[in-house]
Parts: sequence; structure tokens; C-alpha cells
Amino acid sequence: MIRFDIITIFPKIFDSYFKESLINKAIKKKLIKVEIHNLRDFTSDRRKTVDDRPFGGGFGMVMKIEPIYKAIKSIPKRKKRKVILFTPRGKKFTQKIAYQLSKLNQIIFICGRYEGVDERVAKYLADMELSIGDYDLMGGELPAMVVIEVVARLIPGVLGKKEFLRERTALTKGKKEKGFIEYPQYTRPAVFSPKKGVEWKVPKVLLSGDHKRIQEWRKKHQKIIE
Ligand SMILES: C[S@@+](CC[C@H](N)C(=O)[O-])C[C@H]1O[C@@H](n2cnc3c(N)ncnc32)[C@H](O)[C@@H]1O
Repeated sequence: MIRFDIITIFPKIFDSYFKESLINKAIKKKLIKVEIHNLRDFTSDRRKTVDDRPFGGGFGMVMKIEPIYKAIKSIPKRKKRKVILFTPRGKKFTQKIAYQLSKLNQIIFICGRYEGVDERVAKYLADMELSIGDYDLMGGELPAMVVIEVVARLIPGVLGKKEFLRERTALTKGKKEKGFIEYPQYTRPAVFSPKKGVEWKVPKVLLSGDHKRIQEWRKKHQKIIE
């Protein structure tokens, strides 16, 4: 079972997300475990300060290293563990990285806020800096949900039938997971009529019952998400 630890100053952001849908089922089935750590619990002053002014001047505040260091130290350590710091300057998160992360026992996510995090966190505490895309968000909480959702989907049993994962996983020649296979899908009705005289039809081959031809059609239209 993989354990996700999230270090954040906004623990409540995660409340509904982890209480809904397949993620909640995966937690209940003990396929994944999620622990949320309020960074303010690791401060030592009365005001629970987690940020300070940047050295060298400039706008905004920077998250301090001490509470983050203490938060990480407080988390019980599992064998195959990685500490991930979210930053738009990090390595771009991809399906391929998700496959690698899904083999771990524990991932600690550090969710930045304000103008970012003291660089010594990246240098001394994090194993990896990740970005979920080339844009600047207000915090690392959404990235944590994105990464957890993508990684959790790869854990056998989370998506229901285990064969689903096998069918949708693209492999390299050496049989390593390299990407997720996606293709267009349709469901009933076979013909949808939004107004008189207009018909939006499902491709005929999908209604044919001919498994081989359906597979060929899907292969032709598929995209491998790497
Ligand atoms: C306003 S941003 C500050 C960015 C900071 N100047 C830096 O270079 O890391 C606040 C926080 O949001 C998170 N964040 C913003 N954009 C992100 C992205 N594209 N991917 C991952 N995390 C992001 C990071 O945790 C970051 O510390």
C-alpha cells in the first residue's frame, strides 16, 4: 500500500476531495493511505508563522525551512520513499513519472504557497521538484491532488477491474510501462438527434460486434499519453 503524506498550510482544501469517488474507495479498501499535515503545527511561535521576508528584498513572502524540516522529520519513514516539492520550475509531471512513483511505498508532498519556498528545501530536503504544467498556481495543493489521482489510478484494484489497467498500459520493447492508452469512446444511444433532421452517429464498426475490427479501429484512433 502506498502512503501519501501532504504538508500544507490549507489542510481543509483536501476534505471533500478525499471523501469522494474512487479515491475514497481506494482509501477504504486500504489500497492507498493519505495523511495530511498542517504545517502550522510545526511552528514554535504563538502566531504559528510559516513565512518570512525574502533575503535581498523583493515582493511577497517566502516559506521558511524550519517548519518544513520538522514536519518531514515527524512523518514515519517507509522504505521506498520520495519527498516531492511542488514548484513551477520543477520537472514536468508526466504519465511516465507517475508509473515510477506508483512503485514507491511513500511520497511526501510539500505544497508551497506565497512567493515560494526557501531554496534550501529543494537543495537539502526534497528528492524531486515537480511542476504540473507551465503556469503559476497559488499553491501546491492542486498539484498534490493531481499527482495523487494519476498515481492512485495505476495501483491495481483502484479502478475496479485489474484487466483495465493491463489493456490500457503501453509498454516499451523491454516491457516497461511507458504510457496510458486513450481512444474515443461512445455509449447509447447509437444515434443522437439534437434537432429534427440532424443525426450524430456512433462509428458503425463499434456496433458491429466484430472484436478484431473494433480493436483495429481503436488502435488507429488511439493516443498514448506518456
Ligand atoms: C505563487 S507559486 C510560487 C512559485 C515560486 N516563485 C517558485 O518558483 O517555485 C506558490 C506555490 O504554488 C505551487 N505551484 C505554482 N505553480 C505550480 C506548478 N505549475 N506546478 C506545481 N506547483 C506549482 C508551488 O508549490 C509554489 O511554491
